Amino acid sequence: MEPEVRETLASPSGDLATEIGRRRTFAIISHPDAGKTTLTEKLLLFGGAIRLAGTVKARKSSRHATSDWMAIEKSRGISVASSVMQFEYDGHVINLLDTPGHQDFSEDTYRVLTAVDSALMVIDGGNGVEAQTIKLLEVCRLRDTPIITFMNKFDRESRDPTELMDEVESVLQIACAPVTWPIGMGKRFRGVYHLLRDEVLVFTAGEETRTQDLERIRGLDNPELDRRFPDEMPELREQVELLRAAANPFDLDAFLAGKQTPVFFGSAINNFGVQELLAALIHWAPGPRPRPAHERVVDAAEPHFTGFVFKIQANMDPQHRDRVAFLRICSGRFQRGMRIRHLRLGRDIQVHNPITFLAQEREVVEEAYAGDIIGLHNHGSIQIGDSFSLGENLQFTGIPYFAPELFRRVRLRNPLRAKQLQKGLQQLAEEGATQVFRPLSGGDLVLGAVGTLQFDVVAERLRTEYGVEAVFEPAPIHTARWVHSADPKTLGEFTAKLEAHLAWDAGERLAFLAPSRVNLELTMERWPGIRFMATREHA
Ligand code: G4P
Repeated sequence: MEPEVRETLASPSGDLATEIGRRRTFAIISHPDAGKTTLTEKLLLFGGAIRLAGTVKARKSSRHATSDWMAIEKSRGISVASSVMQFEYDGHVINLLDTPGHQDFSEDTYRVLTAVDSALMVIDGGNGVEAQTIKLLEVCRLRDTPIITFMNKFDRESRDPTELMDEVESVLQIACAPVTWPIGMGKRFRGVYHLLRDEVLVFTAGEETRTQDLERIRGLDNPELDRRFPDEMPELREQVELLRAAANPFDLDAFLAGKQTPVFFGSAINNFGVQELLAALIHWAPGPRPRPAHERVVDAAEPHFTGFVFKIQANMDPQHRDRVAFLRICSGRFQRGMRIRHLRLGRDIQVHNPITFLAQEREVVEEAYAGDIIGLHNHGSIQIGDSFSLGENLQFTGIPYFAPELFRRVRLRNPLRAKQLQKGLQQLAEEGATQVFRPLSGGDLVLGAVGTLQFDVVAERLRTEYGVEAVFEPAPIHTARWVHSADPKTLGEFTAKLEAHLAWDAGERLAFLAPSRVNLELTMERWPGIRFMATREHA
């Protein structure tokens, strides 16, 4: 079914610089259960993209996808629908890219972060910094992505706010600048004090489904505050004095350089503190940033369209078995029907039905600008990392493969299907569904992933799309590193010595499959002439 054509958010007459300047493209990074879904829902609510909060969550829990995705996704209750959500807020066009979490955590989760200009980090105030957040922040750091921090769930008993900030600073190695400060927590959560605006935002619970006009009381010395919060004010004044003396003041340049994060406190479920995040996003977070390509750096405001593909999603419409390539526009304006050059294949394609993503509905896009994500229908000719332009030779960089953390050996039930298996795995690897390694010493192919569901998806797709029944068995591999050396002789010696642990990936790059962390460390020590890389560039 073709998506319905509707007007897009951008005005057709929009001046290029203005349209690009009002875009904000970001993702939420968090550990499962920190509140990403809840916050997404509130953000969409402010943007007027959904009428009632609860829609995203209802989908998440009742698992009614608007379209029927792969059977496996349905049975596992995983929705891939809301991959990109576009909405308008305060004159800005916001593109929120979903980072799949929980069981559907995969390399896509990491790669989405290469297509955003900033990120919102949500931390459960009771749990502090958790494992998945650490990993995702590492990926943001590859490009010095500016991070806004939200300490969530202050309507519950939480950890001490200073302790939470210390943890972010020490574990995530990023300086914190408190912008709001909580007044109490749990049952005694009264609100937050905005350090830059010198006003108290009064907390009211239960505002779950409406956008909220918060009560604001100006001035820390306002007697109204003493009247309302006699127990809390002395402590708050003391804390604010301390913060003003000892905490980092917010520094826009440090934030834009990814060195400092403004910190906000609140409660997503109560829609409290969410508007402040949106304000930070539109006032502080960068619009579409310049993107490096092999040839040169491309500025977003350049008139000519350019972009790259960071994600491929299969079977969005099982009837057509189509795949959608998610393209991040890096510069200029895109118009429906435009002919764009597929640089790797060296040929032009005309884009008749590009998709945009308005909240949860797909629709055909007429125009899009740098910062926006469009979906291209694709029958296998587009790979992750592919660049598009109006003809200029530009290969964007910074869209890496990430070293897998989970490995399986692949065995065929019917050995006569070996060719189909190879073909299937090669294509699935190009889509980024999994990584495939071919050991130098022969033997079974090895699959690599960062989330276990990736293996199930691959097994299911091999069966349904390639008619291959494959069995996956545990492989004694801890992690992979791509290996390089400037000196061919060193590389030759290394290869000869460690052949049993080396493999070619789908792009014919050499990888070291380390049986353990200790082994990796020792090998790195023993071979100083070899570089061991945790990521590798596409193309
Ligand atoms: P995720 O997408 O990051 O995994 O988190 P999600 O939003 O689903 O939130 C995880 C749980 O935390 C949910 O509860 C949600 O209601 C709750 N939550 C989110 N924000 C807040 C908050 O500000 N305060 C409090 N107290 N809870 C919050 P659940 O019990 O898992 O689901 P549900 O039964 O409430 O839907």
